[in-house]
Amino acid sequence: MLNTIKLLPDSVANQIAAGEVIQRPASAVKELLENAVDAGGTVLHLIVKEAGKTLIQVIDNGSGLSVVDARMSFERHATSKITKADDLFAIRTMGFRGEALASVAAIAQVEMKTRPHDDEVGTCLKIEGSKLIEQNPCQCQSGTSISVRNLFFNVPARRNFLKGVNVENRHILEEFIRIAVIQFDIGFSYFNNDKLVYKLSPGSFKSRIVGLFGQPYNERLLPVEQKTELVTITGFIGKPEFSKKTRGEQYFFVNKRYIKHPYLHHAVSNAYTELIPSDAYPTYFINIEIDPGEIDINIHPTKTEINFKDARLVYAILHAAIKQSIGKHALTPTIDFNVDPSIEAAFSQRPSTSLNQPEVRVNPDYNPFKSNQEISRGFKTHDRPAQSEWEALFETIKNPAEIQPEHDKTESINDLVPESDAGFLQVRQTYLVCNVRTGLLLIHQQRAHERILYEFFVNQLQNHQHISQQQLFPEHLHFSPEDANILRQLDAELKNLGFILEPLGANTFVVNGTPPNVNEPLSLLERIVENHKKEASSLNYDQNAMLAKSMAMNMAVKAGFKLSIKEMSELFNNLFSCQVPSVSPSGKKIFCIISSEELEGFLK
Ligand SMILES: Nc1ncnc2c1ncn2[C@@H]1O[C@H](COP(=O)(O)OP(=O)(O)OP(=O)(O)O)[C@@H](O)[C@H]1O
Ligand SMILES: [Mg+2]
Repeated sequence: MLNTIKLLPDSVANQIAAGEVIQRPASAVKELLENAVDAGGTVLHLIVKEAGKTLIQVIDNGSGLSVVDARMSFERHATSKITKADDLFAIRTMGFRGEALASVAAIAQVEMKTRPHDDEVGTCLKIEGSKLIEQNPCQCQSGTSISVRNLFFNVPARRNFLKGVNVENRHILEEFIRIAVIQFDIGFSYFNNDKLVYKLSPGSFKSRIVGLFGQPYNERLLPVEQKTELVTITGFIGKPEFSKKTRGEQYFFVNKRYIKHPYLHHAVSNAYTELIPSDAYPTYFINIEIDPGEIDINIHPTKTEINFKDARLVYAILHAAIKQSIGKHALTPTIDFNVDPSIEAAFSQRPSTSLNQPEVRVNPDYNPFKSNQEISRGFKTHDRPAQSEWEALFETIKNPAEIQPEHDKTESINDLVPESDAGFLQVRQTYLVCNVRTGLLLIHQQRAHERILYEFFVNQLQNHQHISQQQLFPEHLHFSPEDANILRQLDAELKNLGFILEPLGANTFVVNGTPPNVNEPLSLLERIVENHKKEASSLNYDQNAMLAKSMAMNMAVKAGFKLSIKEMSELFNNLFSCQVPSVSPSGKKIFCIISSEELEGFLK
């Protein structure tokens, strides 16, 4: 038999190996930034063009490389960071595998300009698809600048697999944040297509979080500190009241390296149990300093997975630290220096008498389903049937086996019509119940309203109907640069929804108008941005659906909201006027029937 096994040419072997380390532009950004941090740079610049497909450049003012080291640095397994196996358990640097530059050079056109501080002349080196093109002396700043052009130029399959500019940019930004947030004593700038996205001065951990995520974080964070023999934990967690509906900012670092660790994540989220809703996520930025001998980082090429020798102990310490931090917060009295003068007056008028029960003022005209004409009109645009017809609609969506033969249909429809509005009952201010021919119809009020509003807003976005409620006192809202960017991307759609946002620069917007009935534009816009982040990279992303869903979920009446008979009747009618009355925008069941047999069964 012929011998068929051959050694692959170096260039092919390199490309294959590179695939493990560099999967997309963001991986190259991560590797270059980590090298710059390891080189002791105090100011780092990241320049990206076309989501890294044409250019990724990182400039640092770190140690620089000698002429020989510059050449060596592109060899596989060439590193200055470890020399023997034992060193793997004493790692303090971000890199140690000696693979990153070799991998980048295998699949891109790379230029390095570097000069150690004490040398007068630097060296400039060009390498393409692992081949050295040239290396010459050059004049350059001390430190190192590496530009990576045309990533995957020689691996077309890989290049074609890259996602759109927005998705790749998001990955790049995420890698930038993972490094910049914890390297807070280093200054960073990040330019994307010649636009400055971030300029961050060296400062504290907290100031860096605020610099990256926006001014509101200043008030939202609680410090975490715990020093034990095994670990030192420092960082910040979000106050429970600011937990998010989508997995937002959750960052773990071990010795300043970003890691993913579901077990430790559990330690944090468990400490929040019963303080935040079960579907909310806490924010955290936690750094764990630990002797490198107590961990194993060498599990995955991207180094985001690590093993602790004693993970259970780290879990226990972390859990206790978080609990303590939340506990302190709960005990600290809130001092509000901006007390509303009317409240002070009310108390000073009756200093010694016992306090009366607070008065709840209800606007008797407020109807969450009908309160603005625009929204009602919105429903009518998709031909709402008369009340007597909703049962017929209901018939079409329920289990076909339950549908009665044609001859008693008229009767059954009549049976389904609540005889009068009094036929509705609200249970635990959460469900609506109504007698129907086959039993009891049980409707989840919040999900039903979400569905109604969702279809209304989808319709509004499609038809470019523009309804806005002017703000008497326009609010200033601050966002992180990333979030502000998303809001700018969504500008046209937000207008269609009724938002009138005026950019003020520095990621601040003035809210001159909102969709009707929106009282807290900040929380609504934050939800929209978060949902966008969560969904934008999925293949079947539908922007209008995301916006309508965010609006509906924010504005729908919640469980615990008392409804009048008239409002219940409106809800019934509007729900069964919807195109899909059976499931909420987030895919949950809206109603069910408890059959007469089941009811009888309860009392057997
Ligand atoms: N910006 C830089 N400034 C100074 N030296 C650098 C810089 N980038 C790389 N080097 C040198 O080049 C070597 C190779 O870099 P490379 O990123 O390939 O490997 P590494 O950082 O040692 O390990 P890893 O593959 O885990 O990143 C480094 O060990 C370092 O000595
Ligand atoms: Mg490296």
